Amino acid sequence: MPNRVQPQSIRTVGELFANAAIQDVETPIYPPKRSLLSRVHLCQGDITEIEVDAIVNAANSTLQGGGGVDGAIHMAAGPALAKACRELYPGRHPCPAGDAKITPGFQLPSKYVIHAVGPRWSVYSDTQTMASQLASCYRISLQSAVDNKCESIAFPLISTGIYGYPIDEAAHVALKETRIFLEENNQLDHVVFVIFTGRDGDQKVYEKFIPYYFPHGPEDVTESVEPLSSAKGSVDE
Ligand code: APR
Repeated sequence: MPNRVQPQSIRTVGELFANAAIQDVETPIYPPKRSLLSRVHLCQGDITEIEVDAIVNAANSTLQGGGGVDGAIHMAAGPALAKACRELYPGRHPCPAGDAKITPGFQLPSKYVIHAVGPRWSVYSDTQTMASQLASCYRISLQSAVDNKCESIAFPLISTGIYGYPIDEAAHVALKETRIFLEENNQLDHVVFVIFTGRDGDQKVYEKFIPYYFPHGPEDVTESVEPLSSAKGSVDE
């Protein structure tokens, strides 16, 4: 029986603050909002074992599997996954960068797989375009989860492996889009960021940047949720 991990057993941002695994920063980009801290989780592991309603796959435009997390998800889900992608989304490249498509999860613990195609990092591509494509992956995946009545979702670090997206930049995009989305949508109870087993450096990056987007703060700030400062520019180095 494959290992299964319940989202409720994964440390929330609130618990990370309580255990002093992360600390508040001088210049958070968003105001404290305690109610969000129990809805965002961070863990190291294998996303195919996370028993959420939907796991997000870092796919390619063909949706026919590949290496990395894509390979792991197709392996765990079984051949029906690639078949469903072909039938639901016909065409050689049915999912362009920045888009995401949902299918059943088949043999996975999760009910759905949301196949998000991140940008392939290139020094010859426009940085802003790649950042907005990555942001779109998170936004569309979150919206697709809500549209399909999901209450929990798990993300890998899209584009930061084979596609070579710098992890710091990718973490900012992921955390910002998630903060904005959770402010506007109450349906998702659990958003889990899954760092692949053993990638301690990636975990440290998330632990460093989470307080900018999900600060603990002295108390809730109930007024406008506009960013406190320009994203990222104020991150203490
Ligand atoms: N669980 C969680 N995270 C994982 C797992 C796993 N089982 N396997 C890999 N990862 C992590 C990697 O460590 C990385 O942080 O997923 C993140 C994304 O890396 P990739 O899987 O390489 O995906 P990406 O960089 O988006 O490249 C996508 O790679 O696999 C092919 O078909 C895929 O062409 C596409 C490209």
